[in-house]
Amino acid sequence: MNQQPGLPNKVKIVEVGPRDGLQNEKEALSLEVKVELVERLARAGFANVEAAAFVSPKWVPQMATSAEVMARIERLPGVIYSALVPNMQGFELALAGKADEVVVFGAASEAFSQKNINCSIAESIKRFEPVAKAAKDHGLRLRGSISTAFGCPYQGEVPLDAVGDVVARMRDLGCDEIDIADTIGVSTARKTQAVMLRAAQEFPIHQLSGHFHDTYGQALANIYAAMEVGVAIFHSSVAGLGGCPYAKGATGNVATEDVLYLMQGLGIETGVDLDQIVDAGLFISEKLGRKSVSRAGNALAAKRAG
Ligand code: HMG
Ligand code: MG
Repeated sequence: MNQQPGLPNKVKIVEVGPRDGLQNEKEALSLEVKVELVERLARAGFANVEAAAFVSPKWVPQMATSAEVMARIERLPGVIYSALVPNMQGFELALAGKADEVVVFGAASEAFSQKNINCSIAESIKRFEPVAKAAKDHGLRLRGSISTAFGCPYQGEVPLDAVGDVVARMRDLGCDEIDIADTIGVSTARKTQAVMLRAAQEFPIHQLSGHFHDTYGQALANIYAAMEVGVAIFHSSVAGLGGCPYAKGATGNVATEDVLYLMQGLGIETGVDLDQIVDAGLFISEKLGRKSVSRAGNALAAKRAG
């Protein structure tokens, strides 16, 4: 039982490795490996796995097999399998793929919006309107993701009100959950709290999530700081895989193993089995032919090896 004031007893971790993690890989991974990764993650106890992105295969080739991944995975009851969709074309594919949740993804900076989805923030919201309506009509969960909420690789500083404005627009679309994303991992603890509190002026804090890339090694500190102000949903990526193809130099999300180790130490419940995640991290790292960047994952694997 968690005894620390100000921290939640329980957090929800959304595993984004199969999407955010793999989208940046240069070498095509086999369908079998992608499917096995999703299945291992769900079996480890995640209630929500981001498994696919129905985006242009020209823009993000690694996600081109998303329909096959969704068709092949063995689904566990109660697990939400999510898919990114930038427009109605993506929505139709996600629906056919039986996604439980669709994720519309925008940005708090105009420059990043243009680079990532080839339109302005206002245009992106217009594109999301029919997606949001269709998601509701089909009884799917709707999540909104806001990139560059803590800084932009093209425009630098992003004002707090720019974040608040996009949160309000995502709320008005009817999002069930909104991700506040540090695309390039530049935030530090106090800044994280300020952005989360600004976002919370527009949307209930318990429905906000923190999506922290670990480029500057600040992700765990940012998660802790976000919990102190009431955020209790976080994204992570097994073995610390990932990055955004439109955010050059940005490294992966915070590693799932590291987040689980932190939560375990704090006595915060996640429902996810760390041992199985260490295995999943070893599995995907071996398939990618490189060492995991998860510090906890590597330490636990070394300890096992004796
Ligand atoms: P566009 O070129 O402006 O779109 O791209 P378009 O509507 O003019 O269509 C151009 C072509 O794309 C057409 O094909 C369409 O059919 C096709 P063509 O006739 O040339 O053969 N197309 C599609 N194909 C499959 N699925 C679709 C789709 N839509 C159009 N849904 C578009 C606009 C949004 C499609 C493009 O910019 C795109 O796909 N962008 C995705 C970029 C992306 O996936 N980035 C990474 C994910 S976001 C991220 O990582 C950040 C996050 O982790 C949070 C954080 O860390 O910040 C979430
Ligand atoms: Mg990301």
